[in-house]
Formats: sequence, C-alpha cells, structure tokens
Amino acid sequence: MDVVVSAAPAAETLFGAQQGGLLRLMTCGSVDDGKSTLIGRLLHEAQQIQDDQLAALARDSRRHGTTGEEIDFALLMDGLEAEREQGITIDVAYRFATTAKRRFIIADAPGHEQYTRNMATAASNSELAIVLVDARKGVLTQTRRHSFIASLVGVRHIVLAVNKMDLVDFDHGIFQGIARDYAEAVATAGFKSVAAIPISARYGDNVVGRSRRMSWYTGPTLLDYLESVEVEDERRQGMFRMPVQWVNRPNGSFRGYCGTIASGVVRVGHTLAVSGSKMTGTLARIVTLDGDRAEAGAGDAVTLVLSEERDISRGDVLSHMADPVPTSDQFSAHLIWLSDVPLMPGRAYLIKLGTRTVSGSVTRIRHRIDVNTREKLSADTLGLNDVAKVQLSLDRPVAFQPYAESRDLGGLIIIDRQTNATAGVGMIEFALTRAANITWHALDVDRMARAQLKGQSPAVVWFTGLSGSGKSTIANLVEKKLHGMGRHTYMLDGDNVRHGLNRDLGFTEADRVENIRRVSEVSALFADAGLIVLVSFISPYAAEREAARQRLQAGEFVEVFVDTPVDECRRRDPKGLYTKADQGLIRNFTGVSAPYEPPSAPEVHLKTIEAAPEELADQVIEALARRGMLG
Ligand code: ADX
Repeated sequence: MDVVVSAAPAAETLFGAQQGGLLRLMTCGSVDDGKSTLIGRLLHEAQQIQDDQLAALARDSRRHGTTGEEIDFALLMDGLEAEREQGITIDVAYRFATTAKRRFIIADAPGHEQYTRNMATAASNSELAIVLVDARKGVLTQTRRHSFIASLVGVRHIVLAVNKMDLVDFDHGIFQGIARDYAEAVATAGFKSVAAIPISARYGDNVVGRSRRMSWYTGPTLLDYLESVEVEDERRQGMFRMPVQWVNRPNGSFRGYCGTIASGVVRVGHTLAVSGSKMTGTLARIVTLDGDRAEAGAGDAVTLVLSEERDISRGDVLSHMADPVPTSDQFSAHLIWLSDVPLMPGRAYLIKLGTRTVSGSVTRIRHRIDVNTREKLSADTLGLNDVAKVQLSLDRPVAFQPYAESRDLGGLIIIDRQTNATAGVGMIEFALTRAANITWHALDVDRMARAQLKGQSPAVVWFTGLSGSGKSTIANLVEKKLHGMGRHTYMLDGDNVRHGLNRDLGFTEADRVENIRRVSEVSALFADAGLIVLVSFISPYAAEREAARQRLQAGEFVEVFVDTPVDECRRRDPKGLYTKADQGLIRNFTGVSAPYEPPSAPEVHLKTIEAAPEELADQVIEALARRGMLG
C-alpha cells in the first residue's frame, strides 16, 4: 500500500524535541568572561570554521586583535553576531559542531536587556550549560542568576569553566576557592553533575589541549569532558508519551497519528491509551520517513497506526495503557514573564501545552523569586523578566507531565490574546486537586427555561466608559424602561458592587482586572437565571471586557460604549473626583493617571455630547429590540 508520510512540523524552538546521539549545550556568561573567545575556539578546534573565514580572521586579528600574532577568536563570534543581528527576531543563535566522537549544538544567547528571555529559550533546549566565570572575579550575582534560570528550565548538567587562569598565574588555590563557592551556591539547584575546569580560552589551556601551565589539574580538558559526559537520555527511559500533532488521512483506508515521541519507547503490538478518554487501541504500525519500524523512542518523528478505528485528534496524547497520561485543569507552576505588559492574575490568556492551546489564567501568584538571591517575595503582578511560582487554571483539562519529567508535556507558553505574542513561559510542577472532584451539573431547568417563564431571553448589557461619563445614569434609565415593559432585570453598578462583593479591591490594574472578573462571573450567573443584566463599570481594559463576553453565549452580550471625552467628564465632575485626581489626591484615576482602552467594535456607541440621557437610553432599547432581544 502506498502511504503518504510527512515529517511532523518543525519542533518548537522552545521546549523543542531533542535528538539522540548529540549533546545540546549552552554557554552562560558575558563577553567579558570570555564567552565569545571560548565558543570561537571550540568551533575552531572542531574544524567548523571554514578555511577562508579563518584566513580573514587571521588578517583581522593582526589588524584589530588584542592578541598579537595569535588569532583573536572573539572577532569570529562578533562577526557571526553581526550577521545574526540582521534577523532581529532571532534571539538565540545555534551553532553546530562535530568532532570524531560527538555532535554538538551550541546555543548562544546574547546578553542584552532581554537576557532572561534569551537564556530561558536557550536553556530549555539544552542538556548541559557551560557557566563561565572570570578567575579574577569568582562567583558573581550574574553567575547565580544564570545557574538558577538554567536549573529552572531543566538543565541538569553544568560545567563551571573558570576562565582567564592566565591572569591569576594559574593559581590552584584560586581555582579551588571558586569551585567551592559555586558548589555552595548551587547546592539546592538539583543539578546531577557539576564539573569545574580551569581554562584560558584565549590561549587554549585545557580547552582542547591539556595545559602545561596547570599541572596540578588532572581532570579532563573542556572538549574531552564535553565529548564524554553522559547526559543519559532520560526521555527514552520515561513513560511513553506522544502528543498527536495531526491526523493523517490521505484516503479512507489509512489513518495515522503523527507526532514526535516526547518520552519513552513504543513497539508494534503495544496497547495504547488516549489521554482524557477510556479509548484504547493496538499499535499496528510505526511508519517513519525511512519506512516501517518495529520500535520507536523519544525524539523520533513517527506516524502511528492502530488496528482499530479510533476517534483521536490533534492535542490528544498517546500512552501505554498501563501508564495513562494524567489530565488536569489546575496547576502549580514556575513562570518566567517575558512581556513588557505585566501579568495580571485573573486575566484570560491563551495557554499552549504540548500541541493543545486552551484559554486560562493565573489565579494566584504564590511568590515572586529574586533570581539573584532566590528570596521569595510577594507580588500582585509580574513584570518583564520576573520569575514566580503561580497557580494556573485552564478552561479545560489537558494532558500533562510535570516539567521535571517531560519538557514537552510540562512546558507551557502563555500567549497574550490581544497581541498574540508569547508573554511568558511556564514549567508545571504538579497538578492541583482543588477542582478535581467537582463536575459541572447539567440542570433540568436551564437558562432558557428560566428566561422563557419571563417571556424573555438572557442578556448582559455592558456599559463601559470613563468615570462621570454617564454610564450609571443611562443604565438606570434603560432598566426603568425595561422594567416598564415587564422585563426582569438586574443592575450591577461599580460603586455598589464595590461596597460588598468587591470591597477588598482598589484601583490598581491588578485590582481592576479582578473587579471585572468577578463581575463577569456574577453577570453570567444572573444571565443564567434568565435575567437581562445591566452592568455599569468603567471596565477600562479590552481584555477583561472580552473575557466577560466569552462567559456568555453568542449574541447575549451587548457592549455599550458610553463615549464622553475626558474633558467633558472633567467639566461635569459629578462626584468632584477629577478635581481631586488633578490635584494628585487620587492615584490611578482613569483618564487622568490610569489608562482607558475604548472598545473597538461595541454593539452600541453612545456619544453623550450629542444627546440627552433619555434619548441615549432609547438608543439602547432600540438596539436591543433590533437584535431581537426583547422578544
Ligand atoms: S473599574 O475600573 O474597576 O471598572 P469601577 O467601575 O468598579 O472601576 O469603579 C469606578 C468608580 O469608582 C468611579 O465611578 C469612581 O466613583 C470611583 N473611583 C474611585 N477611585 C477611582 C479611580 N482611581 N479611578 C476611577 N474611579 C475611581
């Protein structure tokens, strides 16, 4: 039979799949520590540098170099860096090197402002990190930070390269002191191996050739070590997991599940289970680009064919029947925040885990972690480069594995719904059981039944606009009119709800996000009760208004933009708040010292300068009638 087999789409750079037989490593440290020189020399020794490149380098070294007749390898890296900088989106450069004994992929993260982000990306693809320190300076805050981030994203093997030994007279005591300090600094980081090697990247001592000037050092050279270090592929030993990337159905008689095996080994004849379901099936074939195989393991891109017809789709995770994949919608996780726009607990984001993308939010920041000291700090929000332990809640249960067991199934990406940009990365620690035994009850009397009794359909009419724009006045008139028409309504008003349910909240961005999240939930419950709910809150952020819309069914949410320019609100100033805000007596005042994001496509747009409240209320009623919401 002719079978069409495609390779799985390219692995993500972040949490990407690794191939067996090669070592993925990264370097941590700054150019000052000799990072460029070291990588340049390693690449050179591994014969990766083209001869013509080398000739040019020798010329440049004599012209600009700081090393006399020696080749200045830092110049090579700088050249490559310039090349790389043309592609501004590439934050991490990968270099490939091959020696007689091993293949290497070296991830190099430039050390600019976005350092944490680049490092996290590089480290999430690496098994080993070379941490460079300057022998004259020893273990610095930066060394601790790099080591912490590396451990956080799953690097388990470290080489402490104590560089510039030539500048400390190849002193044994200095080297020993630094190795001791480092061992102490990373005692609790969970590394499986830490090897300290004294080197001089500039002169090549102990990089490839053994140094004649440090006879006290009897261990391997850096390259020897990298060629021989065992980073046992734990993924192959783990339980079999394969997230289905896509289902290949070229014709009626063939159905294959394509993906890259995240961990473990699978054989033809095994009984497989599907995450989140009771389905099982017998593995009939393992199809690869090189033909059929009897067995496949972690890192292999395969197409699995079952003996039975099964309804399996993208995002499902296959496992052995004996070790099913856990699923959950609540997690404890570490998070690295990568966006200028701060993380707001309660805000809805897209969360990508494995091949599945769902909606979810951070429900709580347990603590922020100082990356330099590892101190736990309290935090309401997270800013760029912040690291924290958080609780996550997803809209639906997903298959997962703790990050320590599987980078592929335990690493998640948080995506900003507005910009679609990656805003953060997370590493699952474990599932929380808070909601594990709670199931949604489908009730016999539902929202439609309740609404029908009242001769109406459920709706949420959401008024948004600046303080003093006239929201409450208009909403109040609309409610009176609806009431007069015999409709059952309920009004949720910002000032009133803040007296009770939300009395613990102030006006920081985080508090407003939570304010609107709670109000969205309450309005959805009232709509479920069959009511027409009027909501009058400034609700300054588009993301939260969108989340409120998502809580309802299509057509039930009507956004009313009460559009009054801030100068007009200031002129009216019904509560005297603008005067106070202008005097600096109220902080974070919307329109003055806090933002307002106007709706881009509201169902109703009221321009209050042009009409009186009574007339504007009629416009709302008409809009509801036009949409068939008044029966
Ligand atoms: S929201 O931004 O979180 O949606 P909400 O509608 O609940 O705000 O509350 C707004 C009301 O709180 C305003 O009408 C005003 O009376 C009062 N208020 C007090 N401080 C502020 C402030 N800093 N910014 C805006 N409104 C404030």
